[in-house]
Amino acid sequence: MNMNGKKMLITGAAGGLGSTVSWAFARAGATVYALDHDAEKGNRLLALGSAESPECIARMHFVRGDLSDLSTLRTQLDALMVQADGIDVLINNAAIYPSKPIEAYSIEEHQLVQRVNADAALVCVQAALPFMKRRQTGRIINVLSITLHGGWADLLPYVTSKGALLGMTRALARELGRDGITVNAVSPGAFPTDAEKIHPDPEGYQRFVLDHQAIKRRGRPQDIADAMLFLASEQASFMTGQTLNVDGGWVMD
Ligand SMILES: NC(=O)c1ccc[n+]([C@@H]2O[C@H](COP(=O)([O-])OP(=O)(O)OC[C@H]3O[C@@H](n4cnc5c(N)ncnc54)[C@H](O)[C@@H]3O)[C@@H](O)[C@H]2O)c1
Repeated sequence: MNMNGKKMLITGAAGGLGSTVSWAFARAGATVYALDHDAEKGNRLLALGSAESPECIARMHFVRGDLSDLSTLRTQLDALMVQADGIDVLINNAAIYPSKPIEAYSIEEHQLVQRVNADAALVCVQAALPFMKRRQTGRIINVLSITLHGGWADLLPYVTSKGALLGMTRALARELGRDGITVNAVSPGAFPTDAEKIHPDPEGYQRFVLDHQAIKRRGRPQDIADAMLFLASEQASFMTGQTLNVDGGWVMD
């Protein structure tokens, strides 16, 4: 997919999936604003591109930002949008995923998960919208999770936040279609990133994943990047409000 001349913002960009997605878009020609709160992981993200062309490296910009502080985030993004003269693609990818029984969550922790995983996505959309509306084109991609389909216990705040993102995807798609802006979601299955380290029995988990997938290999972050490149492309201009399950044929709906 050709992203020449496009500008994109991705949150959680230094994570397991985000770093591959960020470089895939830069390689395709996009200027990438890669936002994450973890500076050390940000350095690792930049180092990952050492083999890329100088032009590609020049298109990658690490932006340190904290999605849990919504008012500072809004100020930071408003400034970034002015500096970049808007973006064409927004990928709401960041998430935190505490795992424990419902009794163990405080309401503050629950609210923090909603803030980082869902409310911050709305702030990012609001910052990007004036520019997308002015140009009457834009692509918004929200990252959901296979956990939304049930099957995993102890993830209540996380699954709740992904439900909010699904609702946001559909509501925004309906509202922004008239402005040429599409809003879709990618729902990853089980990918071997940090998110998976919450499982106590790695080998048993690997078996569980392959048993459930129709395709008998583990997902690769590039599989997610490819789905996002498609949704961000011209070729997906007639799709909005949809969820692409990228999970090796686990969930079928
Ligand atoms: N890996 C999987 O198997 C899987 C499965 C289903 C869904 N997902 C979804 O994919 C997305 C990416 O997941 P991942 O596996 O790359 O996870 P990850 O933990 O590797 O990456 C998440 C990134 O978000 C960043 N982040 C967390 N809190 C932040 C904050 N307050 N401000 C800014 N950045 C913050 C982290 O520093 C991290 O780099 C998430 O939305 C996750 O829910 C992943």
